[in-house]
Amino acid sequence: MAELFDNLIDRTSSSLSHPTGEGIVIDIGTGDGLFVYQSARQNPNKFYIGIDANPRPLEKVSEKIHRNPAKGGLPNVLFIQAALEDLPSELDGVADEVHVHFPWGSLLQAVATGDEKALRSLRRICAAGAVLEIIIGLDPERDRSEIERLGLQPLTSAYIEEELIPRYAAAGFEKLEGGVLAQTEWSKIKSSWAKRLKGSAGRTLVYIIAQVPVVHT
Ligand SMILES: C[S@@+](CC[C@H](N)C(=O)[O-])C[C@H]1O[C@@H](n2cnc3c(N)ncnc32)[C@H](O)[C@@H]1O
Repeated sequence: MAELFDNLIDRTSSSLSHPTGEGIVIDIGTGDGLFVYQSARQNPNKFYIGIDANPRPLEKVSEKIHRNPAKGGLPNVLFIQAALEDLPSELDGVADEVHVHFPWGSLLQAVATGDEKALRSLRRICAAGAVLEIIIGLDPERDRSEIERLGLQPLTSAYIEEELIPRYAAAGFEKLEGGVLAQTEWSKIKSSWAKRLKGSAGRTLVYIIAQVPVVHT
């Protein structure tokens, strides 16, 4: 299985120059931006873009990144208010990694049903060879009303392999893997929602990893 949660790119992106020379990482549904902020601190030669439809959770972290570096400022981060369904065209083909962690609402519906239009939006922002990582944490009991509202199927290994993966493949992703993660994986995820939900025994953690084909010249 590919390595999860860990800033998968350690190669030099052909499309980029310093200080983004190790790649551009886009986190969609970034929430309070914790994953983006912590990853950007650890990887100063990657550029991180956190995107969320809701501007409110982005307010604090957007202010923080503009401070003096000694006070938490970071030059390699940008936050954008946008929905997956309406990503700015300036992002087309720029991402070397795309992350979607603990999606909810329309974002959850898009990635958990393999919605064609949404998957094409994800594909559109990817550079050649980009890696897509999706982590979904659902509790069939506690999240029942949202699951029913969004019309989600149970995220079993069979559903992921037989239904979802072919939809991701049709949208232009390859080398697809998906399945259920062990509870021990919670602690590895840099995410406020992972921290919030990790005590919940009934919650299953599901992942999908995919790659955009590399262009050989
Ligand atoms: C449960 S939070 C997870 C936040 C963060 N990824 C984390 O792990 O802590 C889900 C986020 O998805 C965002 N979201 C929901 N639908 C979206 C959409 N269509 N496009 C972009 N963001 C969306 C919500 O505003 C919310 O901040």
